[in-house]
Amino acid sequence: MAGNSSYQKKTMAAKQHLLIISIALLISFCQCDPDTLQDFCIAELKNQPFINGFPCKSPKDVTSDDFFFAGLAQEKDTDNILGSNLTAGNVLSFPGLNTLSMSMNRVDFAPGGINPPHSHPRAAELVFVMRGCLLVGFVATDGKFFSKTLKAGEVFVIPKGLIHFQYNVGKKTATAITSFNSQLPGVVIAANTLFGSTPEIPTGVLTKAFRVDDKLINEIKSKFGN
Ligand SMILES: *[C@@H]1O[C@H](CO)[C@@H](O)[C@H](O)[C@H]1NC(C)=O
Repeated sequence: MAGNSSYQKKTMAAKQHLLIISIALLISFCQCDPDTLQDFCIAELKNQPFINGFPCKSPKDVTSDDFFFAGLAQEKDTDNILGSNLTAGNVLSFPGLNTLSMSMNRVDFAPGGINPPHSHPRAAELVFVMRGCLLVGFVATDGKFFSKTLKAGEVFVIPKGLIHFQYNVGKKTATAITSFNSQLPGVVIAANTLFGSTPEIPTGVLTKAFRVDDKLINEIKSKFGN
C-alpha cells in the first residue's frame, strides 16, 4: 500500500515536472518575433492586409538589393538639443528584415550628447561602441541601476523592456551600433511618453506621480509640445 502511494506521488511529480517544462518551453517560444516559414519574406510595406508583421514581396521580384542596407554608413548631424541622432535599420527602412527577428541602428553622439532614457517593448539590445566613449546603463524592475563606461569595440547588453540610456562622456564624438532581436523593437521614450503624449496625460496624474506642482509639470509638458 505504502509503496503504491509513493509510486503515485512520483508519477504525479513527474507529470507536474513535464507540465512546468512544457509551459516554460511555450513561454520561451513566444519571446521573439514569429519564426520564418520560408527562406525570406521581403516586406511589402504598402500593400496591406494588416497582419502581425508585413506580407512578402513576390519571390520572383526579389533582388540582392532587398538584402542590402547602406543607411548605417553615414554619420548624422548631432547639432540638436540632445546632441545625438539615430538612424534606424528596422523593417520599415530595411524591408529585407521582415520575419528575421533582428534589426540594427546607428546612434551618433556629440560630446555630452545623450540617447535619453527609453525602452524597447519587443527586444533586448546589444550596444556596440564603434568609436568614442559611452556611459551605458539600465534600471532593472527592482530599481537597481546597472551601468558601464564603454570604449571602442566594447559591448553592453540591455535586457528586453527595461529603461536605458547612452551618454557620451568622452571629449570627442561617439558612435554606437545597436542590434535587436526584433525586426521592429518599438521605442518608448520616457520623457516624451509622459509629457508629450496626444492627447495629454492629465496634469493631476503627473503632479501626484512626480510629487511636484502643476507649474513644474506644465513647464515640462511645454518642452514636449503640450
Ligand atoms: C539627423 O541627421 C539628419 C541628417 O544629418 C538631419 O537631416 C536631421 O535633422 C537630424 N535630426 C536631428 C534630430 O537633429
